[in-house]
Amino acid sequence: MKFFLDTADINEIKELASSGLVDGVTTNPSLVMKSGRKFLDVVKEICEIVPGPISAEVISTDHKTMLAEGRKLANLAKNVVVKVPLTPDGLRTCKALSDEGTRVNVTLCFSPAQALLAAKSGATYISPFVGRLDDIGTDGMQLIADIIQIYRSYDTIRTEVLVASVRHPIHVIQAAKMGADVATMPPNVLKMMFNHPLTDKGLAAFLADWAKTGQTIL
Ligand code: E4P
Repeated sequence: MKFFLDTADINEIKELASSGLVDGVTTNPSLVMKSGRKFLDVVKEICEIVPGPISAEVISTDHKTMLAEGRKLANLAKNVVVKVPLTPDGLRTCKALSDEGTRVNVTLCFSPAQALLAAKSGATYISPFVGRLDDIGTDGMQLIADIIQIYRSYDTIRTEVLVASVRHPIHVIQAAKMGADVATMPPNVLKMMFNHPLTDKGLAAFLADWAKTGQTIL
């Protein structure tokens, strides 16, 4: 399973990229706003730090302007993936960009029907938002199960399931058990995945006993 970071915070990206665990990055207009940086600058910088796919989202809602924005974003760096919303114009743009050889991440997916349309439009990634579904009392992970079941029923579908709006490590584990291709997570979720109190307790005991031996390795 690939791990993407869902952030536009350069410092967080640098810190976690050095772990070797980060396969890509997703951004969205809200995350760019939070970073306080200029969109195109921040995308270029992320692309230099992480060689994997970096999603950058268009902000227009009509096909013609989305296409122009998508082409501009795609030209920023080889690893840019253009992100478009799951609307009729967004999917038309997805098809056009995909036909030109640009990878597209279709975002704001909340139903299996939408995911099917994105696959038919040539999306490289579909981004179902699990946390936002949970927030309204729906089972976000069920959507992932449904999409995987549909996509795996057709050899012709190459679209990868990119689990988005991840709020905690349990989302990641459930997605991994279902065989989702990617989980994009905020930096704090990736950091949480390292933690277990028995690891801390066990390490403290090992180190205390080692100190009693009076030995060193180096
Ligand atoms: C996906 O690419 C989105 O950027 C993101 O996962 C949205 O998550 P949120 O619901 O926490 O804003």
